[in-house]
Amino acid sequence: MTVTDEIAPVSHYERIGGANSVKAAVELFYDKVLADPELVGYFTDVDMVGQRRHLALMLTVVLGGPNEYAGRGLAEAHQPLNIPLEHYVKVGEHLTATLTELGVPADIIADVQTVLGQVQDQVVATGNRPGA
Ligand code: HEM
Repeated sequence: MTVTDEIAPVSHYERIGGANSVKAAVELFYDKVLADPELVGYFTDVDMVGQRRHLALMLTVVLGGPNEYAGRGLAEAHQPLNIPLEHYVKVGEHLTATLTELGVPADIIADVQTVLGQVQDQVVATGNRPGA
């Protein structure tokens, strides 16, 4: 076995410092989303523990961390919420701003944006897609 074989690929989640850094990011992200009058309404019926859990799960998924979430699929959880593309984009912007403020490297932020593009179809309401 060569030395390079022993080097496991390090996920973005691990590179930014794992669970503790994600927790710090959740605090900042949470403040931004709940301070946004267009977005706060989605979370008013969800308790505070649930709201933080959502943001932590969302960050973990987009950073390629351990996926501890074994509940409903993203589409099943979000389609009933009828989220328009505009609101999805806003949440993505708050997330990018949070990571930028915390000094997360640009290559990681670029990959986060790629993941946001990949899961968009599951989260955004099907009826709100242009042409749908
Ligand atoms: C990359 C994008 C997103 C990811 C990875 C994500 C992830 C998740 C996960 C894993 C759950 C938990 C589902 C469950 O336990 O049943 C959830 C629930 C939820 N999400 Fe998201 N989410 C995303 C985007 C959004 C956006 C854009 C909004 C609102 C504008 C949103 C609002 C919610 C709400 C309100 C819940 C709670 C639903 C409920 O308890 O009934 N999510 N999300």
